[in-house]
Amino acid sequence: MCGIVGLIGNKDAAPLLVDALRRLEYRGYDSAGLATLVNGSIERRRAEGKIVNLDACTRAQPIGGTVGIAHTRWATHGVPVERNAHPHTDGRVAVVHNGIIENFAELRAEMEAQGRVFQSDTDSEVVVHLISSYWTDECGPVEAVKKALARLEGAFALGIIFAGEHDLMIGARLGSPLAIGYGDGEMFLGSDAMALAPMTNRLSYLEEGDWAVLRRGGVEIFDRAGQPVQRPVQVSALSAAVIGKGGFRHFMLKEIYEQPQVLGDTLHSMFNPVERTLTLPEIPFDLSAVKRVTIVACGTSFYAGSVARYWFESLARVPVDIDVASEFRYREPVMEPGGLALFISQSGETADTLAALRYCKAQGQHIVSLVNVTESSMARESDAILQTLAGPEIGVASTKAFTTQLMVLACFAVALGRARGVLSAAEEDRLSAALVEVPARASEVLNHDERIREIAEEVMHARDVLYLGRGSSYPIALEGALKLKEISYIHAEGYAAGEMKHGPIALIDEKVPVVVIAPHDSLFEKTASNVQEVVARGGKVVFFSDEHGVKKMGQNAVFTISLPTVDPFVAPILYAIPVQLLAYHIAVLKGTDVDQPRNLAKSVTVE
Ligand code: AGP
Repeated sequence: MCGIVGLIGNKDAAPLLVDALRRLEYRGYDSAGLATLVNGSIERRRAEGKIVNLDACTRAQPIGGTVGIAHTRWATHGVPVERNAHPHTDGRVAVVHNGIIENFAELRAEMEAQGRVFQSDTDSEVVVHLISSYWTDECGPVEAVKKALARLEGAFALGIIFAGEHDLMIGARLGSPLAIGYGDGEMFLGSDAMALAPMTNRLSYLEEGDWAVLRRGGVEIFDRAGQPVQRPVQVSALSAAVIGKGGFRHFMLKEIYEQPQVLGDTLHSMFNPVERTLTLPEIPFDLSAVKRVTIVACGTSFYAGSVARYWFESLARVPVDIDVASEFRYREPVMEPGGLALFISQSGETADTLAALRYCKAQGQHIVSLVNVTESSMARESDAILQTLAGPEIGVASTKAFTTQLMVLACFAVALGRARGVLSAAEEDRLSAALVEVPARASEVLNHDERIREIAEEVMHARDVLYLGRGSSYPIALEGALKLKEISYIHAEGYAAGEMKHGPIALIDEKVPVVVIAPHDSLFEKTASNVQEVVARGGKVVFFSDEHGVKKMGQNAVFTISLPTVDPFVAPILYAIPVQLLAYHIAVLKGTDVDQPRNLAKSVTVE
């Protein structure tokens, strides 16, 4: 998943392109580059690593031009070194690419057989040579691109400029998002609205197979068959202000601390505190007729869905299937038409989740997406949108998006239970009251930050860490393990506490910390027994519970955190926060790049 941006206008392109790339850096940061037209010739600057290196390069070697394309890379093919950095060019055509060209090997062989010389190991470079090979005196650049696009298989968002073509830039989309931005006497293209926000808020989103011919005066958009099409121009709500850290050391810590606020914002978008009733956004189908719910997501969003499964089944009494998108889409599950398919995604652009959405649409499901970005591909392709009001989440490790996903899913579970007539008014009042408390309780949880940092000092040298939970705390154990893995690079594994005896307990010794998520609910005693089994084998237990649970655990746990006592319904939302903080502090102590961990990107727009 990379970020691409392009502009054709009358201003100096390079600084605008670098600034736009900064806003796309969350999509990947292995290397970056830009290309412009200078007196009709293609000029290029590229740098390994983050955008700051490209910025330094363009300052050391200034580059002119008012037409340009740029790219920040998450490596799919080819190690992240400068020669593999985009843009790729043969001197006539320059291309930036987000996605994967699946038939690049055969195309590369064909191009090399024509005597074309490749400079990189990437799949993307084949697009340059394919377009260039079609571009002749008889076949102009636009026609050449059309012919080349017909040959490409896989996923791509492309930005293309041409030597000698001072008023031409082409964009194309298949499987990876691409927006067209409208200016006054200038036009833009970019992977998302955030990249273009400083330059324009008037956008069109290309649909699958679309390609666009941009000139300073406007754009012509064509569908996959080459027919002219119109795509609506929308006004983006995204602010042009560059998101800052607000005095926090990292975006991740800022976003952890924003959780009380954004949990409240998200709840109040659906809950009327005066009437104390929950009202979902417009759902254009009858919720009471839903007989099965299928939940599909990836990563942290999948764990949010995993918590929701407990809520939907226990509160709304509806059967739930759930799977990670990369498995679901190839399983070809049999689906009764009329079911509800729910897709959870912070970015709304995750390729596997989007592909699963399209599969479910073809299977006659009602499509609902829960996203943090309403201007995303998933949102545009859904029958209904549920929105987290987390605000832009810059840290690659998801935190506030996760807990606000849980908030929306909890509200949805109540609304679904009411619609299906299985939730009494008294029960709904109890659940709503529990939700109303969450923002305040989340603030109290943050008061344990310093204590969790002290615990992090004890855990940071571990080679392996186990996270245990039962019931709706089990996905929080999985999420805690993922947080630790992705930002501290320590191997961690989340496990159902009841599964310990079926193997993992063999791992336990004094070198393997065990983090236990155990609110004092109906499963507490069983989890407490598992803790005893761990302690009896010398395991070092980090115990997250509430006052009752900590008292019952006594001295068995080496480290305890007593969280606010809350209704078990909302415990997963609150218990996510200490596992976020634990991972954060361990990563800081280990000196890893907390906001942009190695090998990761914020939005996985490739399979
Ligand atoms: C979470 O910390 C990770 N960054 C990752 O697992 C993420 O949740 C996953 O890639 C899904 O992203 P999405 O929510 O944007 O679809």
